[in-house]
Amino acid sequence: MFTSSPLTGSKAEQYAALAAQARALLHGERDAIANAANLSALVYHALKDLNWVGFYLFDGTELVVGPFQGLPACVRIPLEKGVCGAAARTRTTQRVDDVHAFPGHIACDSASRSEIVVPLHIGERLIGVFDIDSPVPARFDVEDQAGIESLAALYLESLQ
Ligand code: SME
Repeated sequence: MFTSSPLTGSKAEQYAALAAQARALLHGERDAIANAANLSALVYHALKDLNWVGFYLFDGTELVVGPFQGLPACVRIPLEKGVCGAAARTRTTQRVDDVHAFPGHIACDSASRSEIVVPLHIGERLIGVFDIDSPVPARFDVEDQAGIESLAALYLESLQ
């Protein structure tokens, strides 16, 4: 049984503790769906002020919704659309303080005000994106970005 322990200390310490929990959760399992599901649930319940945490997986043409926590979401996102498409296309994390100001943002949940999307790729091969939404404007700062990118890296490591 998984028991969650509340995160304490500085933001960096909290992300370090969360990464340790993620490492333990993913340990010994390489299934991409299982690990995406568990990592989404871990993050959704560990961090404050989130309304959606999940994965979009690249099917060779576009991004298709994968395991997530939150309200039902848009199923397919072309690479030229949205924050997710921008992350996948440019292979760079998109940290958006105000989703309404992002050209082409796709509103799956009208509660979302800020968003961070980390691209997932192994070498040149695009796997998908790890997407987190918040109802709070500018919810994610550079420390959140570093912490969330570390979690995304743990996910990719778990597949290999
Ligand atoms: N807002 C995203 C779409 C996915 S949802 O946030 C779950 C985007 O613009 O790509």
